[in-house]
Amino acid sequence: MKIEKPRGTRDFSMEEMSERDYVENTVAGVFKAYGYGKIKTPTFEHMDLFTMKSGDEISTHMYAFEDKKGRKMCLRPEETASVCRMFSETLRTLPKPLKLYYFDSMFRYEEPQKGRYREFWQLGLELIGPKGPESDAEVISVAYDSLKKLGCEFRLEIGHLGIVKGLLADKDIPEDLQRKSISCIDKNDAEGLRKITSEPLLFELIALKGGKEVIAKAEETLKDSKKAIAALIELKEILAYLDAVGVEYTLNLGVARGLEYYTGMVFEIRVPDLGAQSQICGGGRYDNLIELFSGLSVPAVGFAFGFDRVAEALEMQGVNKKERTKEIIVAPVSPDMKKEAMKIASDLRKTHSVEYDLMDRKLGKILEYAGEKGASHVVIVGRKDYSDGMVTVRDMTSGEQKTVKIKEIEEVLK
Ligand code: HAM
Repeated sequence: MKIEKPRGTRDFSMEEMSERDYVENTVAGVFKAYGYGKIKTPTFEHMDLFTMKSGDEISTHMYAFEDKKGRKMCLRPEETASVCRMFSETLRTLPKPLKLYYFDSMFRYEEPQKGRYREFWQLGLELIGPKGPESDAEVISVAYDSLKKLGCEFRLEIGHLGIVKGLLADKDIPEDLQRKSISCIDKNDAEGLRKITSEPLLFELIALKGGKEVIAKAEETLKDSKKAIAALIELKEILAYLDAVGVEYTLNLGVARGLEYYTGMVFEIRVPDLGAQSQICGGGRYDNLIELFSGLSVPAVGFAFGFDRVAEALEMQGVNKKERTKEIIVAPVSPDMKKEAMKIASDLRKTHSVEYDLMDRKLGKILEYAGEKGASHVVIVGRKDYSDGMVTVRDMTSGEQKTVKIKEIEEVLK
């Protein structure tokens, strides 16, 4: 019986994992430089965790099941809600700000296509505690710096849901219709939106995209809406911090986000070359989600990279992202040298990645294999050399060979 992997899942080869490890480690390095620490949450959670506030978009795409006791569970479709639950259960007494990051697989029952999978990875972070515009700006900077560090070309778009919600509230649109409107804006569903409201200022507002000039236009559009103007002022403050650290961005007041828990600044990062699934990152401020689980009013802001899409963007842009470990192969060239060669391999492993030839091959075949694997050096252990306290080291790039004292192998490998 032939069994294939489930639709929308992938196997990753060693080569692919080496590339993915490089991306993960580079981004995690930036997260840590900003003071974030890694956490883990369970792969499955009680379904209510995600149906309470994540929104229809996620709820309809969940891998949901009943466990043996009939409890409704699901594989996590995202991790922000899990982090808020974890905070409420175990981290609430820790000093603020709390800076947490995760790298985990998420599960969404969507129609698979390039860049969209049923199991995919997110590398994300949550900043819990602070509320000021500098915290929004700092979170955006972490995402920006991470992609710069990887050498990725991208477009950062920033909006503010407080502006859209403020306008809708000032136009007396009730909460549930505000939510529906935002979902339509997210899906680019102008017709659906028109069925809820035909407010021309809203359509004007969400079409505002571009540089700083957008702010002046928005001020004009929103001049009679107090709540929207207050949110616009906050957005201006966030932008001032981003300008101070040199983050380049586009304003897009039509960024709405598919998840329901956002309350303020929202942002998305796109790599247009990726086609339909061009969004490689999404995030924003969500000040009411923790309260839902703990009763404590604690503001928070965060984002998640769609890790697979980031890796695909780098591939497409030809960015070299291999984790280059300098690999050395130790080859005994006579059967009575196996233990001696193994000892040499074992000593070198303290400082290098070393493979001892386990296939009992002739030297020619070992060198062929070393070439295919991209090894940097082969250490050849022969009986005659060894009895003089020597081995031969072959540089696989230049093809040069040197016979050196065993104690001095390290010097040659440098
Ligand atoms: P999200 O926009 O739903 O936000 O997902 C974040 C990223 O995950 C997306 O920008 C996209 O790159 C990637 N992604 C989503 N679905 C798929 C899929 N089916 N296949 C491949 N990649 C996918 C969140 O999940 C929020 N929890 C982000 C956040 C953290 N907001 C605040 N903190």
